[in-house]
Amino acid sequence: MESNWEELENSIEDCKKCKLCTTRTNIVFGCGNKNADIMMIGEGPGADEDKQGNPFVGKAGQLMNKAFEGVGIVRDEIYITNIVKCRPPQNRVPEDDEAKACLNYLRNQVILVNPKIIVLLGSTALKNILGKEYSITASRGKWIEKKGILYMPTWHPAALLRDEDKKIEFWKDLKEVVTRYSEIKNS
Ligand code: URA
Ligand code: SF4
Repeated sequence: MESNWEELENSIEDCKKCKLCTTRTNIVFGCGNKNADIMMIGEGPGADEDKQGNPFVGKAGQLMNKAFEGVGIVRDEIYITNIVKCRPPQNRVPEDDEAKACLNYLRNQVILVNPKIIVLLGSTALKNILGKEYSITASRGKWIEKKGILYMPTWHPAALLRDEDKKIEFWKDLKEVVTRYSEIKNS
């Protein structure tokens, strides 16, 4: 574990711990407020993210930004990252060995950010953070508390592009996050 951001960022530079290093353009480390109370974790970079080096800048990210605006989340105030930091080819789901290789970076990010709430965006984030036994369909919208952190599993923003019902649920889940956060802050 690295004890500060500079060391952590240096440690991931040129990372070759899994095969995704051979096809990536940029490592997508994460972005936003490094002292955020709310952290969002996605699956892995897509084509736009791989090109630009930042998470959720493509279509799914734009849809997510709209939902943020709608519920009053300021993107710069939260911290956003992914399970794997390099793009899986054809945007396939990261394989277990890839997620496992990359997870130490994410664990270190969580320790340094020290968030109160973590929003898990989709099945890949849910299963790699809380365990394979969790299903996104059964868990979404329900708080799970573990080791002092509140987890809110919800749909991955890319799933919203195809499904209006999921869009409504995603907004509802983000609203719940905002409500719970203001309760925590005022308590
Ligand atoms: N999908 C993700 O899971 N993460 C991104 O950064 C972009 C799309
Ligand atoms: Fe390293 Fe993670 Fe990229 Fe794999 S996905 S090469 S572990 S940074």
